[in-house]
Amino acid sequence: MPDSRSAINCFPIRPLAFIHKYSQGKIGPMKIRPARRMKGRACIPGDKSLSHRAAIIAALAKGTSHISGFSTSRDCASTLLCLRELGVSIEQNGSSLRVEGVGEIGFHAPNERLDCGNSGTTMRLLAGILAGQDFKSTLTGDDSLRSRPMERIIEPLRMMGARISADDGRAPLVIDGHRGLNPISYELLLASAQVKSCILLAGLNAQGRTEVIENQITRDHTERMLRSFGVGIETGRAEREGENARFAAVNGPARLTAREVSIPGDISSAAYFVTAAALLPESSLVIRDIGINPTRAIFLKQLGELGLNVEVTGAREDSNEPVGEIRVQGSAQQPGKSDNSAMIIGGLVVPQLIDELPLLAIVGSQVPGGIEIRDAAELRVKESDRIATTALNLRAMGADVTEFEDGLQVSGPTRLRGAEIDPRGDHRIAMAFTIAGLVAEGETQITSHDCVAVSFPDFFELLESVLEK
Ligand code: S3P
Repeated sequence: MPDSRSAINCFPIRPLAFIHKYSQGKIGPMKIRPARRMKGRACIPGDKSLSHRAAIIAALAKGTSHISGFSTSRDCASTLLCLRELGVSIEQNGSSLRVEGVGEIGFHAPNERLDCGNSGTTMRLLAGILAGQDFKSTLTGDDSLRSRPMERIIEPLRMMGARISADDGRAPLVIDGHRGLNPISYELLLASAQVKSCILLAGLNAQGRTEVIENQITRDHTERMLRSFGVGIETGRAEREGENARFAAVNGPARLTAREVSIPGDISSAAYFVTAAALLPESSLVIRDIGINPTRAIFLKQLGELGLNVEVTGAREDSNEPVGEIRVQGSAQQPGKSDNSAMIIGGLVVPQLIDELPLLAIVGSQVPGGIEIRDAAELRVKESDRIATTALNLRAMGADVTEFEDGLQVSGPTRLRGAEIDPRGDHRIAMAFTIAGLVAEGETQITSHDCVAVSFPDFFELLESVLEK
């Protein structure tokens, strides 16, 4: 199967001019210089959320599945590592995968602890599957992942009869799995696609109907992917007071059928390019074959509300997911809301742009009225405390920031100044502040920038290839 996102097609590597790594025989900070515009076409690697799900669900199916456009991220490599440790045979050729599915209960007991690295999605989704297998397994990860809350999956899985022990609600998670979990109906108290997915995956091995109700819409990739692997998943509006309450339900035990999956580019990775192109005057950027699932694309709408010129064209469906093209024109005028008021982000939209919020905070620093983000306490338990890391680094660049328990307020417009940025090991913070560096005055240095590989290993090279003086 041809793969349009191969590194050779997409990355015309040029000498790094705007982005420069100090080279003294060791990995130093990445230097970012202001850029004038972004031009051309960016091929964004495959969606990370979809890649985790495609590999895991293909492993659960009987037969051989072929996946193209698989994410090059370190996080998705963690998922493959764990699946192989569980006895799944996976052949990888660049971004193409061939997965020999073992069926819903065909996994082998692992010899080692399953190392999920930095990946919360790997840990939370696999926990749902391992709870229903007839063996003991341990899920662990790096320092960041072992500090993140897991009670949110432990509680529903225990309600299903799973035996899990944890370290004060955190990994390592020791799962003493057994077949025949109890089906449950579970209302999510926090909006999380990872928790929803964990329960639905556990439900595949339960005896009867497992239902998850969410009061705020979160990404629906698991539901779509299960459906395309032949699972009769039901989804719809839940009979609850909130207009947005939705349910998803599976009937276990379920049988999955192997298939071909084509994964579009990752809209959360594209967001950095879209933002830079929209903010740098005279830019013109096209991003093809990008996932535009409405539960992920709210970020584009927010940029549109600031008068930024971002257009989605050619929408189609591929492998049961909406895919399209994003075209961005740089804005010659000061971006901002038509009445120059602050941009306010809160409430129901938050889970649908949760990964883009640090970047939006930076955009907010560029517009009259600035930005206020609320109802986003979840940011505090991501790969870093993203409220704190965003505030810290924006202040270092000269922005006026107020931090709240559930968000932050950034004044704007501010002429950002180049500064030393510490992403605290968080890939999205490193990438967001690279974009800040492109629109700032002077030079920005991103320390320990190699964390970008968690979601986007070629981020700096691809960025360099579309920047112009
Ligand atoms: C993800 C869901 C989100 C998101 C994460 C990936 C997924 O987390 O922040 O990057 O693939 O399901 P939560 O579901 O915990 O909000």
